[in-house]
Amino acid sequence: MYLTHLSLTNFRLFSRLDMDVPRRILLLLGSNAQGKTSLLESIYYLATFTSFHAMSDKQLLNFVATSEELTVARLVAAYQRGDRQHKLEVRLIQDSNGNGGSRLRKEVLLDGVKTPVNQVVGHFNAVIFLPQMTRILEGGPEERRRYLNLASAQADPFFTQALSEYNQAITQRNALLKLLAERGGDASQLDYWDEVLTSRGARIMHSRILAIQEIEQLAIRIHEQLSGGKEVIRLNYQPSYDPLTKPEGQFSLPMQTSAQRDGFSLKQLQQGFAEKLKQVRNEEIMRGVTTVGPHRDEMRIICNGIDLTDFGSRGQLRTAILSLKLAEVDWLKAKTTQWPVLLLDETLAELDVDRRQFLMNYLEKAEQAILTTTDLNLFSTSFVEKCEQWQITSGSVSILDKDL
Ligand SMILES: Nc1ncnc2c1ncn2[C@@H]1O[C@H](COP(=O)(O)OP(=O)(O)OP(=O)(O)O)[C@@H](O)[C@H]1O
Ligand SMILES: [Mg+2]
Repeated sequence: MYLTHLSLTNFRLFSRLDMDVPRRILLLLGSNAQGKTSLLESIYYLATFTSFHAMSDKQLLNFVATSEELTVARLVAAYQRGDRQHKLEVRLIQDSNGNGGSRLRKEVLLDGVKTPVNQVVGHFNAVIFLPQMTRILEGGPEERRRYLNLASAQADPFFTQALSEYNQAITQRNALLKLLAERGGDASQLDYWDEVLTSRGARIMHSRILAIQEIEQLAIRIHEQLSGGKEVIRLNYQPSYDPLTKPEGQFSLPMQTSAQRDGFSLKQLQQGFAEKLKQVRNEEIMRGVTTVGPHRDEMRIICNGIDLTDFGSRGQLRTAILSLKLAEVDWLKAKTTQWPVLLLDETLAELDVDRRQFLMNYLEKAEQAILTTTDLNLFSTSFVEKCEQWQITSGSVSILDKDL
């Protein structure tokens, strides 16, 4: 798929932006603080309905415009998916809550029709590459869950809803656990939440088992090429509730072992998870928190038997992360039959010559890629010639004036 037009109103520094997006590879040149990352953020938002770095959607509203009573930010994309043209619009509406504060609503329109987010996610797909994405490896388990969630949301039409209902159930269940811990009461009140948690949780685990398995296969191939045949990458899913029975006292399977969990049906996962919740119920009431479930899942990335999060060298991390991201692209392509739009924010500056070349070759396969840079010299002349070269200055985009 590819974007044909993007229009932004009151999004970050863009009070107003209207651009026809060229097909294939767009190279966007701009100095610092001109809007490069914000532009990619807006496109990624249209794919995932979340920002990759804002703490809340409120930060996305142009802060000059937000001084008024009512502020509306609009993101509109026209894009081609297969042989059809579509239009996706997101409105972020902020108004006063009557108590001196403000509240924010989100409206999504697909082809002019208001549609719930969880029914739209996955319609327009994008994968983003950011300099800070080694966080996926270096950060805590929540970074790896996020990587998986964002990929799965775009590929699996039921995932977003299951995840959002699961997260709501966790909040409610934790509140109830706390109440039971503090005041006592009938523990069977938990049964309802356990049912919600286990049905949505089973859905999430089922999706993760397959996603990790499939992404791993793609990553292995890419990583082999990227490392010149020297490294084998593995993705090791460590579910908080593990349907595989483990020998007494053994905490998890050895790293090199590929665990086969794809044979478990949704029903089996749900039943097993429900039993586990029963086993830990008393302990959870004491602690006032839900201790097992996909919100505590982990995925480790292993290279030649070494866990990269704990022992990876800088170069190994960068290569592994590139393999993971490219595998995500290939996976989305396989799942949706469409190329996602690739968004690369100054990623090339981070890579050595060989990996840069690998990535540039890869980009030529994709249907559309948008790359930002502060310096055209990071790219080979032959690559630059294949790209549309544009510039961005104070939030305004135009064809690059080469005489400047
Ligand atoms: N909500 C907002 N409203 C208005 N301006 C904003 C908002 N959020 C960020 N900005 C400003 O937008 C400008 C562009 O930010 P952005 O991160 O897109 O720049 P960039 O071109 O990627 O810069 P760099 O090369 O330093 O990464 C910054 O000056 C930033 O302060
Ligand atoms: Mg930037």
